[in-house]
Amino acid sequence: MGNVTVIGAQWGDEGKGKVIDWLADRADVVVRFQGGNNAGHTIVVGNTEYRFSLLPSGVAQGKLSIIGNGVVVDPWSLLDEIERVRGQGLTIDPDVLVLADNACLVLPLHRDLDAAREALAGAARIGTTGRGIGPAYEDKVGRRAIRFCDLADAPALETRIGRLLAHHGPLRKGLDLPEVNAETVMAQLGEVTPRLLPYVRPAWRELDAAAAAKKQILFEGAQAVMLDIDHGTYPFVTSSNTVAGQAAAGAGVGPAAGGYILGIVKAYTTRVGEGPFPSELKDETGERLGARGHEFGTVTGRKRRCGWFDAVLVRQSVAVSGIQGVVLTKLDVLDGFESLKICVGYRLGDRVLDYLPAGVTDQAAVEPIYEEIEGWSGTTHKARSWRDLPAAAVKYVRRVEELIGSQVALVTTSPERDDIIMMRDPFRG
Ligand code: IMP
Repeated sequence: MGNVTVIGAQWGDEGKGKVIDWLADRADVVVRFQGGNNAGHTIVVGNTEYRFSLLPSGVAQGKLSIIGNGVVVDPWSLLDEIERVRGQGLTIDPDVLVLADNACLVLPLHRDLDAAREALAGAARIGTTGRGIGPAYEDKVGRRAIRFCDLADAPALETRIGRLLAHHGPLRKGLDLPEVNAETVMAQLGEVTPRLLPYVRPAWRELDAAAAAKKQILFEGAQAVMLDIDHGTYPFVTSSNTVAGQAAAGAGVGPAAGGYILGIVKAYTTRVGEGPFPSELKDETGERLGARGHEFGTVTGRKRRCGWFDAVLVRQSVAVSGIQGVVLTKLDVLDGFESLKICVGYRLGDRVLDYLPAGVTDQAAVEPIYEEIEGWSGTTHKARSWRDLPAAAVKYVRRVEELIGSQVALVTTSPERDDIIMMRDPFRG
């Protein structure tokens, strides 16, 4: 059995949490490789609902869970999350959780900057989660971030804070934010350091040892390909690479270690935040999808924008991420629609495109070309076998496969862990 990399193939919130939880059951190690507490996964196990933001979903099953170097970590958010899930009965200790020593931190000043910039941007705002993720990645690339390994090294920490504030001081002044001095940052970090250090280790060594012992590793993506800093709907994206290729760099393994690349795809499309969304429905049908699918963000509680399945987008995600199979989630939300539409191309002026162009103006201007497909009156809710699906639902799934150029490996039919139809075992490639 090999490793599996799971990524979102639309704009996030495809239902990755449930799939990752299901896969984590059979993995030995679960690793997060990008993003931060802008992510939100809800997992339902029996009667307990867990909400994970930074913690890899493997902690729900006591599996070795690693927060890799590609993640930016807000220590306060992480410690709150640890306390919350402990209160729900999970064990979080250094045998279960590893924080990569070379991962960068998100600090309160990053949150301030995120909020101030969004407030000033007016109509040009990105609609971020407000968690300071973008500013933290900027500092990482600007080589002035504070990393976990600095916390145990007082002289280095002092130098790092100095570099950081030399950059943030003028920025804050320009944005009318109160001044922050080195003592304040030192004191803030001093509060959390003793609680974090027990988890801090070289994560790449853990992964190297796991590979040598032939353990199964699950790479857990956050956000999704259309929010990728390079391949997404820039600038309406997050600040990390979300494509499968990031799993290696963001965890500290070679590119071949990612194994089978599984894309998570919702049976329709949703997006939170601003930015282009060609198949968006701003009508009753969109409302109906949102109500049936409970489409509210787990992190910010924002109402998600809803629309028909966009096969052009997903085909593009499959190509740029090397997706080998997809999980089609929330198929049951489409139960009861008389007819369904799938976006199969875009019209841009007098041209027809089979891909989403890169430019902002073109992305905002493309109009969807739809194919209409028959709905089903029966139910797919809680189906666990292909045979339980109405014939028209099977036809829908097959058409999706054809249009996106990738096989549907799994279909999910309710929020519960075991309501899954498996056509192909991702761990067997
Ligand atoms: P940021 O990642 O907070 O900077 O937000 C940038 C964009 O990514 C915004 O449109 C957010 O709504 C979106 N985003 C970030 N994380 C998620 C997620 O986990 N699910 C869906 N959208 C997300």
